[in-house]
Amino acid sequence: MNMWWFITTLAITAFICNSPSYAYDNNPLQDICVAVNDSKAAVFVNGKICKDPKFATANDFFASGLNVSGIAAPGAGGAAKFVDVNNMPGLNTLGISTGRVDLEPQRIVPFHIHPRATELITVLEGIFYVGFLLPDPTNFFKSRLISKILYPGDMFVNPIGLIHFQYNVGNKKAVYLAAFNSQKPELIIIPNSIFASNPPIMDDVLAQGNSLRLYVIKNMILVILKVVCSALAEHQRLMKALE
Ligand SMILES: *[C@@H]1O[C@H](CO)[C@@H](O)[C@H](O)[C@H]1NC(C)=O
Ligand SMILES: *[C@@H]1O[C@H](CO)[C@@H](O)[C@H](O)[C@H]1NC(C)=O
Repeated sequence: MNMWWFITTLAITAFICNSPSYAYDNNPLQDICVAVNDSKAAVFVNGKICKDPKFATANDFFASGLNVSGIAAPGAGGAAKFVDVNNMPGLNTLGISTGRVDLEPQRIVPFHIHPRATELITVLEGIFYVGFLLPDPTNFFKSRLISKILYPGDMFVNPIGLIHFQYNVGNKKAVYLAAFNSQKPELIIIPNSIFASNPPIMDDVLAQGNSLRLYVIKNMILVILKVVCSALAEHQRLMKALE
């Protein structure tokens, strides 16, 4: 009887002690696992194929180029450059990667998520307005904005999976370095995912899926058309002036 009482107490104690432990940490299954494409050169499999450790070199654990900005996509107003398992194969299975983001004044990294990583940013240059949206567990229709103005040397953490943004509020170029607890954090830019899908999403789904009325979307399309038309007119005017 006493024995059963002891075991039950132990089980309840174990349950109580374990249940608040929502934390986790990375735990690689081996010292190194340099990613390779050639399966013949591989020994272990853990996510990517791993290079035989005896053929690993210092260059597998090296990357350069974060001293300069990435190449900006046309109209993006900024550039992102990542060092992840694809360009530093030694990161494989280590649960870490990094990146550099450059933004022109008044430009933004639009609402996005990294489904596999928490992001810790450190400002190197300029002034950022950053924030993430914390869902309200009591009301699916609401969220709380956690935001901050950051100066060089300031850091901010965007918890895994939450929607966040970075905006250059200064009047010169701004740069931050991002650290991720994933070898490939993934980037989902929410407006691009939703409004630029291929094939496009049905109008009504787009409208109701974004809690918008159809006329809002139609007005958005009209505004975009107006911008495109005036840009074309400006282009023609410039071409005329050059003739
Ligand atoms: C694997 O192959 C891809 C595509 O050919 C290449 O871009 C990448 O650098 C290769 N990765 C490694 C670790 O060799
Ligand atoms: C950036 O670093 C690379 C590699 O170390 C070097 O070749 C390049 O000259 C550097 N560029 C600038 C602008 O400092």
